[in-house]
Amino acid sequence: MAENRAPLVLILLGPPGAGKGTQARMLEEAFGLVQLSTGDLLRAAVAAGTDAGKQAQTVMQAGGLVSDDIVLAILKDRMADPDTSRGVILDGFPRTAGQAEALDVVLDSTGQRVNSVISMEVEDAPMIARVAGRYTCAACGEGYHDEFKQPAKAGVCDKCNGTDFKRRADDNAETAGARLTAYHAQTAPLITYYKGRGVLETVDAMADIASVADAMQTAVKRVMA
Ligand code: AP5
Repeated sequence: MAENRAPLVLILLGPPGAGKGTQARMLEEAFGLVQLSTGDLLRAAVAAGTDAGKQAQTVMQAGGLVSDDIVLAILKDRMADPDTSRGVILDGFPRTAGQAEALDVVLDSTGQRVNSVISMEVEDAPMIARVAGRYTCAACGEGYHDEFKQPAKAGVCDKCNGTDFKRRADDNAETAGARLTAYHAQTAPLITYYKGRGVLETVDAMADIASVADAMQTAVKRVMA
């Protein structure tokens, strides 16, 4: 990567279960970028009991989208942290046209721009199984799946040796269905928006995790060259 360039801004677009979080964590390690997941930031706000978290909680439990104002405030704070100086992977943001436009304004003010948007292409039906089988390490957040990605040693996290795991409150078939509906209605139109800007890449995210990672890393290398 050339020195002295503005921090890279990479967006992962895809419905629930597409593998945004899984791949973002692998891209973090491969390229020294920082994953910013609005879902994780909102869940942290819910756990901390902040005003924003209280407002977000009911919406998240129903599988809808939290208001742009709340999401933007949380994300802008996080983007200002010094560890983002090399670049960020936006996982789950933007999710509406309003968020995409607001992101442009934020980036303009710091001389940055969206460098690449990777649309993770999947079929809807298998996403319910991916989401329903997901669990994460309670200590480090590493993601696993009952069928597709188990720890090497049963019950022990590969990354940190933690033995506590948790499942998300919104990872059930009913809420996942509502999240898919919200994705198609409010987020999928961003594929056309970013295609028009000439920054869209598409990746077949129905393949196994390692194959998807290869395709994603090839796409990111092109942008960083
Ligand atoms: P968020 O946390 O962003 O959830 P999501 O978009 O629904 O995405 P997921 O985390 O469910 O899926 P993922 O694509 O990251 O898949 P993962 O890699 O974990 O948002 C949650 C809620 O917060 C929203 O519903 C909304 O209410 C709110 N919110 C968040 N951002 C917002 C915003 N910007 N505006 C408004 N509201 C917002 O993979 C899933 C599972 O599948 C894992 O177990 C994994 O191991 C497995 N897996 C991954 N890839 C593969 C593969 N290729 N093959 C087989 N298994 C795989």
